[in-house]
Amino acid sequence: MAAAGVTTHPLPLPPSADPAYFKSFGAEVRGLDPGNLSPEQFAVVQDLLYKHSALLFRNTSLSPEQQYKLTKAFDPSSENYGHGNNKTEKTKKSILHPYLKTIPRQPQVQLIGNGLIPEHEGLLNAQLKHPHHRTFHKTVIPDADDLKYTHFYRWHMDAALYDLSPPKVTTLYALTVPQGDGQLCRYDDGTGDELPVPLGTTAFVSGATMFDILPHELKSLAVRTRVKYAPHAYVWMAPAHALSTGLGLETEDLELPLKELPQWSEDRVKVLPMLWKNPVTGKLHFQVHPCGVQELLIAPLPAGAEREGALYPAGAHLTDLKEVRALVYKMQRPAIAPKLVYPHDWSEKDLVIFHNRGVLHSVVGAFAKDQVRMFHQCNLAASDDPDGPSEEDVKQYA
Ligand SMILES: [Fe+2]
Repeated sequence: MAAAGVTTHPLPLPPSADPAYFKSFGAEVRGLDPGNLSPEQFAVVQDLLYKHSALLFRNTSLSPEQQYKLTKAFDPSSENYGHGNNKTEKTKKSILHPYLKTIPRQPQVQLIGNGLIPEHEGLLNAQLKHPHHRTFHKTVIPDADDLKYTHFYRWHMDAALYDLSPPKVTTLYALTVPQGDGQLCRYDDGTGDELPVPLGTTAFVSGATMFDILPHELKSLAVRTRVKYAPHAYVWMAPAHALSTGLGLETEDLELPLKELPQWSEDRVKVLPMLWKNPVTGKLHFQVHPCGVQELLIAPLPAGAEREGALYPAGAHLTDLKEVRALVYKMQRPAIAPKLVYPHDWSEKDLVIFHNRGVLHSVVGAFAKDQVRMFHQCNLAASDDPDGPSEEDVKQYA
């Protein structure tokens, strides 16, 4: 698919990134105005997005209305923000509540960032807080080093994980980007891994790569596994602490007990495949929100599959949180290695559209109190749940 004057270019990879893993992951698109796409141009963008997982447009001008319209075009029957109406009691208890301010006339678009915004799009005196790892992690960087070192805040896809379906895309539009020194993101997990990051980066990793680099026995497990998320996952996890890599939670029995959660019902609990099938490329993306995971449902090996060395050949239902988390971590950790991370260095008027069902991302870093940052973010609870592996996929990988 092509459109006149449209060109794609590699993302500006930092020296830490291994270009071999970014041949199809990420692209800058030039020659289109994403706020005013014709249906033909939109089809081109959609195709590029599913092939590249994250698209960057520079020097864009995008109103909240245009951003909503663009985001909705990827899933025309979606309507509401990915986390639902954020004025309800349950969302006030959510760990996300302090970070999202809704644009009054386009409530699917959120103002996020840092600092006090006296007036913006009908919001008065909005106090924005960049999520800081000290509010969520068990092990934190000492205050004295706070502007020098940092952690990934939380690796995730944008999804309520309960009742609502994970949005297909997220659009992130940078309005105000403070300039300042980069930071060193430390993994602090005993590996010595660290990643130099621009100030206030958003870090992305590919879910397709996450799957591709797994050894056979973990691919076999992934293709057979479904993930059950906690009801009201963001309320459930609020009292808990994250690992220093931001890739899941410590198991300290701190999650809110299920009976203390806002009202919930079993039929709205999300059970999603561990691998989500890309609707254009057919590739499998390892898409698990490690903080919200509660249980794993593993199907037995299919007939004819090699049993030697297979994990859970007869299938299993894992409900022990520590065991569940350890297994998911083992499968996801390789893909957040420094060479596989794209930390975007934001400029004002950058628009990033990412395939929320194909990548994981994380907020990173810390701002000084007076550093003002403003972004508009939009995603929409999808009209369906993601597809998992096909029968042929199971045969191929199990
Ligand atoms: Fe996000």
